Amino acid sequence: MNFNENLQIKSFADYKKAYQESLENPEKFWSQVANHFIWKEKWNHTLSWDFKKPEVKWFQGGKLNITENCLDRHLEKQSNKDAIIWEPNDPNEESRHITYKQLHVKVCQFANVLQNNGIKKGDRVCIYMPMIPELTVAMLACARIGAIHSIVFAGFSSHALASRINDAECKMLITANNYYRGRKSVELKEICDQALQETTTIETVIVYRRTLNPTPMKEGRDKFWFDELQHAYSDHEAEVMDAEDPLFILYTSGATGKPKGMVHTTGGYMVGTAFSFQNVFQPSKDDIYWCSADIGWITGHSYVVYGPLAAGATTIMFEGVPSYPDYNRFWEIIEKYKITQFYTVPTAIRALAKQSVSHIEKHDISSLKVLGSVGEPINAEAWHWFNDHIGKGNCPIVDTWWQTETGTIMISPIAGVTATRPTFATLPLPGVQTALMDEEGNEIEFNNQPAEGKLAIKSPWPAIARTIWNNHELYKKIYFSLYEGMYFTGDAAYRDASGNYRITGRVDDVVIVSGYNLGTATIENAINDHEKVAESAIVTFPHDIKGNALYAFVTLFNKNDASEKLKKQIKKQIANVVGPIAKPEKIQFVSDLPKTRSGKIMRRILRKIAAHQNNDLGDISTLENGDTVKKIMDNSV
Ligand code: PRX
Repeated sequence: MNFNENLQIKSFADYKKAYQESLENPEKFWSQVANHFIWKEKWNHTLSWDFKKPEVKWFQGGKLNITENCLDRHLEKQSNKDAIIWEPNDPNEESRHITYKQLHVKVCQFANVLQNNGIKKGDRVCIYMPMIPELTVAMLACARIGAIHSIVFAGFSSHALASRINDAECKMLITANNYYRGRKSVELKEICDQALQETTTIETVIVYRRTLNPTPMKEGRDKFWFDELQHAYSDHEAEVMDAEDPLFILYTSGATGKPKGMVHTTGGYMVGTAFSFQNVFQPSKDDIYWCSADIGWITGHSYVVYGPLAAGATTIMFEGVPSYPDYNRFWEIIEKYKITQFYTVPTAIRALAKQSVSHIEKHDISSLKVLGSVGEPINAEAWHWFNDHIGKGNCPIVDTWWQTETGTIMISPIAGVTATRPTFATLPLPGVQTALMDEEGNEIEFNNQPAEGKLAIKSPWPAIARTIWNNHELYKKIYFSLYEGMYFTGDAAYRDASGNYRITGRVDDVVIVSGYNLGTATIENAINDHEKVAESAIVTFPHDIKGNALYAFVTLFNKNDASEKLKKQIKKQIANVVGPIAKPEKIQFVSDLPKTRSGKIMRRILRKIAAHQNNDLGDISTLENGDTVKKIMDNSV
């Protein structure tokens, strides 16, 4: 397979060929891709792996710095091209255009700020910031000096922030004083101060002044971003990194109740994000690409920042929300910047589809060429609305399936190359060897017949997370123990007679609400911490806009405590401990939870009750306390 300058596959025949080659000889395939980048020293061993250990190493011996590939590499040919266009929350505030040259200077300068404050290669830096260009500058500056960034979504609570800082033992916290999101004002620095009461490792806090609001600062620890820039040079020699050196940690929900710090490394992640970005979205030279995800999530890491910048594209960063000042906002932005690729989440699509089409008709969105969806299954209605009203039937929809753990898109159409099929993520990208597994744990071989099963991956791709920070055993247990020698995704899937995959949902204790990946155990722990609560179980039920919403079944020490006031307190507690996104839509106080004889909560039954499918409870003969089910059904909300 010979790639063009942009590494792009341009026909279905080429896709088939590339896919075949990538499985037959992954070393050769990925070496060809990797050769498109700047390496300070070439690798001497392309791939070594053993999913039983598990251990994966790509491009061993290779030396590079990802920021040289995202920035320096583009300076010769396109230094004045916009790298980032930033659209503020308030449409009356001025937008910012930052060229590759300017971004390079900002990153180098901030890299010096980090070093001036004692940060070295391998140190962990926590970044807790709104969607402003300085967030990208901070993360790339970490990468420039070889510090490992750990970005925490700015919508998370102080407790969630503290637990992530503690787990990674971060030395520095980078934040903003305050920001606006829609009509809401968020005092970010105050949340940080609360979090820092629960941590011991942070030596320095750098605060970007996003607004003129007064900012509490602690002498000796807290420093303003602009003050620090005053004595920082604007050039910086990039640190030489091994291909397998960690680039970042990103926390994702887990079944254990404690978030898992997924560790991504440098070389494979860079090669994987750039290759998938170039292929799935098929950008051309003057395109303006917009991914509406927050950088606090993997989608933002890989497809707002690293993928687009490694490919030399222009990436939009939007600080606000689709509904502010009104539901015109997304279409206004698409018209304003003549967006060509628009990548968003089903929950936003469903919310937008509920609004009058007049919002769309007022805007010229004809610049669009490709639409993308990520984070949860996109239902047929939302898919068709997106296709008809936004793509006007002319834009391929790339329904991209992947995970924090995978680092890059795994199953997705290649825009304009793969035939799309509503609600299907379609075919695996080159390098992704999928397998459907049956109930007995055997692979269901593809034989041109539809099949359904659990989704696993048989061999490594460059951007697979290498471990869970400080917990390799857990990494092995969660992902590599269910099927020997394979990576288990935690998802179920349906495969049609042509080999197209539709992801049907999670099969573990992770729930997806509005596209956010949440661990039921984390939320249950937050509820159980309330002094009046004895026990709880969280399940999801179908919701028009959120896709899934949360339903909490709660038992109390004293059933007379049940009240609306207590429900409010529980919601507040969840917001404080986990974050507002985890607040349940419904809470039901119950006298008992249905359990198996071995004491396991029967979530399957609770899910049916939450969805009002009482006639379809299935086998409840193994229940220890069968009569409680009827009581719960009678009082369901
Ligand atoms: O269940 C799948 C769902 O989101 C999970 C991964 O969540 P997270 O690590 O937060 O990453 C989200 C962004 C990549 C998956 O295990 N998911 C993701 N994309 C899709 C999806 N479900 C169906 N279709 C998708 N396109």
